[in-house]
Amino acid sequence: MSSEKIERRLIITIDGPAGAGKTTVSRTLAARLGYRYVDTGALYRAVALAALRADLQADDDDGLERLCRGLTLAFASAEDGSARLLSDGKDVSDQLRSPQVTRMASAVSARPPVRRGLLRLQRELGRDGGAVFEGRDMGTVVFPGADVKFFLDASPRTRALRRFAEVQARTGQSLAEIETAIRQRDANDRTRALAPLRPAEDAIPVDSTDLTIDEVVDQMLTHVSLKMRQTRG
Ligand code: DC
Repeated sequence: MSSEKIERRLIITIDGPAGAGKTTVSRTLAARLGYRYVDTGALYRAVALAALRADLQADDDDGLERLCRGLTLAFASAEDGSARLLSDGKDVSDQLRSPQVTRMASAVSARPPVRRGLLRLQRELGRDGGAVFEGRDMGTVVFPGADVKFFLDASPRTRALRRFAEVQARTGQSLAEIETAIRQRDANDRTRALAPLRPAEDAIPVDSTDLTIDEVVDQMLTHVSLKMRQTRG
């Protein structure tokens, strides 16, 4: 047997509110580690898109239950390596970011059948480890035993400014509209009865308000390296 220590491929979770930088940070961290990046918000958005297309109300639990049972969601890699989301075999990645889908995603993500359906899928995606999961309840509900958990936050103003820079050209929304929508979505996500957005007790808090992406990722890598040294065996 080789004397090389075997490196266990970890599950890393990054939770936090919209606009804290989770997506860029999670993607960068995953790339630096050679891990898979899983954007769980995209799954909620895909359910929202399917619900809108089926003309369902956001609180129609029976309809959502049926919808989730019949819906097959899967991630695939595009030729350029970017992650695409397939909903019943069709690439819906470019339809997930409209304000309408964003609002519906926040609403349906509070519904029990939706959370139940996606819980199973997310755990399945994490079965082999070696992944960075980005979401709201990754460290608290989906992977309570994750190896390293982060809670990434930033001030609401900073988050609105970042989102503004990102979506303004596409949606034409004003900064004030975006800040209002972010605060509304935060309130929904933090106060819902099921899997509310909150840090896991053992999550490492990271505030990105005054940090660059690289500074955040470097901080996280320090924690991940420490964990890797502890778990090597
Ligand atoms: O991260 P995002 O903005 O793409 O998420 C879309 C919505 O889905 C957001 O309102 C929160 C919800 N969500 C959730 O409830 N749990 C997750 N793990 C990920 C997202």
